[in-house]
Formats: sequence, C-alpha cells, structure tokens
Amino acid sequence: MKDGKVPNPDNIHPIPGYDIEDLTKEEAVYIGEKINKIVPREVDSDEEEFVLKVENENGEIIGGCIAEAYEYHWSRMFLDTLWVDERYRRHGIGSMIIREVERIAKDKSCRVVTLGTASYMARPFYEKHGYTVFTTLKKANGYISYSLVKYLDRETPDYVPSNNSGARFKVSLGNDDDAEVIQNGIDKYSETYEQKCENVGFYKKLVDKDGRFAAGVIADVDKGEYGFVEAVFVEKPLRRQGLGTYLLKEAENLAKDNGASLILTNAGDWNVDFFKKNGYLLRGELKDVPKGHDCYELYKII
Ligand SMILES: CC(C)(COP(=O)(O)OP(=O)(O)OC[C@H]1O[C@@H](n2cnc3c(N)ncnc32)[C@H](O)[C@@H]1OP(=O)(O)O)[C@@H](O)C(=O)NCCC(=O)NCCS
Repeated sequence: MKDGKVPNPDNIHPIPGYDIEDLTKEEAVYIGEKINKIVPREVDSDEEEFVLKVENENGEIIGGCIAEAYEYHWSRMFLDTLWVDERYRRHGIGSMIIREVERIAKDKSCRVVTLGTASYMARPFYEKHGYTVFTTLKKANGYISYSLVKYLDRETPDYVPSNNSGARFKVSLGNDDDAEVIQNGIDKYSETYEQKCENVGFYKKLVDKDGRFAAGVIADVDKGEYGFVEAVFVEKPLRRQGLGTYLLKEAENLAKDNGASLILTNAGDWNVDFFKKNGYLLRGELKDVPKGHDCYELYKII
C-alpha cells in the first residue's frame, strides 16, 4: 500500500488504524467544499436553483421547470424537471420554457445545458431543440434513461414547433410553491411508468485512532435498482493508502445488500483513474466540460 498502488479492494477489510463511523452533516458539507476546490473552475459563480412557470388565463400553473445551476463554475446548467399539463401539451409551451432556460444559461455564462430523460418521456422533444444523448442506461423496469447535452456555443438550427399556439402564454420566474406544483405534475406523470423505490443513504467516514476525520464517502442506493456514489474524499496527506478504495467498496457493499446490481458515479479526467482502477467502466462522456477537460459517467456491475 505504501508504493502508491490502490490495493485489491477484496482484501482490504478491516483497514488497520481506522474506524468507520457516520458522517455528520457538517462533515458532508466539508467534503462537498473540498471536492469543489479540486474541480477545475471555468467561471466563478454562486450556486443557484430557479423555477420557471407558465400560467393560463385563470392563473393556474400549466407548465414549468426547475433548473439547478449548482454547476455554474463548470459553465453547466442542469435542467432538473420540465413539465407541461396534459391538457396543454404539444402547443409549444415546453419549447418556450426550454428556450428561456437556455437564455438564462447563456446569461450566466453557461456553455452547456444538460438534463436527463427516459424512454417513456421526451427524448425526441429535446432532440428537436438540438440536444444529443451522451449516456444511456437500461433500468431494471425495462425503461432506458438518457443524459442529454446541448452546447450553447455551437450552431443549432432554429426550431419552431408545428403547433405554437401556446405562445400566447408567458414564461415567468416562479417560487418554491410553484416548484411544488411542477414537481407534483412530473411525479404524477412518472408514477404511471415507474414504481417509486426506497432510497437508502450511505454517509460514512474513516477516523484515525484519535478520532480525527481521515476520509469520507457520500452515496445512496435506490433499492433493487442502482447505487450512486456522490463523493469520495480522502485528506491529502492520507491519499494513496487505500482509504478511498475502502470507502468505495463499502458503498458498493451497501448497494449490493439493498438489491442493486449496478453502482454509478460521475468523474472528471482529473480523477477518473481512481474509479477505473476500482473496476468502473465508462458509460458516457461529456467533452470539453469544464473547458479543457472531459467528464464521464461511469458504472460498475456489483
Ligand atoms: C415533454 C414536454 C415537457 C414537452 O412540452 P410540450 O409543450 O408538449 O412540447 P412542444 O409543444 O413545445 O413540442 C415541441 C415538439 O416536440 C414534440 N414533442 C413534445 N413532447 C414529446 C414527446 N414526449 N415525445 C415526442 N415528441 C414530443 C412535439 O410534437 C413538437 O414537435 P413538432 O414541432 O414536430 O410537432 C411535455 O410534453 C410534458 O410535460 N410531458 C410529460 C412530462 C415529461 O415527459 N417531461 C420531460 C421530462 S424529462
């Protein structure tokens, strides 16, 4: 372990000199901050979530979206939820909303908008707007989930929906209550296709014999579906001793114990080798995000 090699993960339990304990909330925040410092920064900007809504003549919300700009420093806007009321679909309202998201993204110096959709949802809708698929994942329920991206600094042909009669409505900024209506709309729509599965969190740390924080992992698992590793962090002087591998393996064990056969994570070209050495394979690649780097979506069969 001293020569800088990552040990065989099957032989590392228990790890001498350390105890595994639950992460506190403060430590989870600390890990997030530390990781953010490692990630290459393209622009300096505050994290922010915003809501867009469209109301009808009676002031009812008939569509909207929730976008997370937590990756502004990557010049990346993430469109989390987009929904149009069933009675108003295919009237150009979804298109109005997505155009506004892109306008705001450009305004905030984002070069890309990314989003996820599923095979029963709206992939062709996004493709009409110039989005391309960069990751696919077949889910246990048979549906495929896709990640899509649009590079805002690349030419895409203008697109106007064949039925644009919803253009008489306006897109405006919404608040938390509006977000709830939009979220309920999408949840109701999705539950006809997907069963909600229980999510189990895994927030663990390694502490040395004096109780000092050495390393942490934040992961979760959708029971019977797949696990996701949000973050693994090892304090700098303690790297290359197998602590990260140990925590990753523990997260994989939790996912396996909860009926998952797959674990997923995201990485960048600055840290992807750690995951590759631990048996993770590429399932999608986002080129030049952040600028001058590539980032990846990875999986491992567990
Ligand atoms: C997907 C959704 C947001 C699109 O909004 P919308 O207002 O209906 O879309 P628009 O009228 O702007 O459609 C633009 C074009 O995309 C097409 N389109 C819209 N939704 C589509 C879908 N689900 N599948 C295939 N094509 C779709 C339209 O037919 C139109 O194409 P055309 O110009 O060739 O006729 C809306 O249909 C919706 O809320 N669906 C249910 C929830 C959902 O799937 N949300 C997306 C989650 S990722």
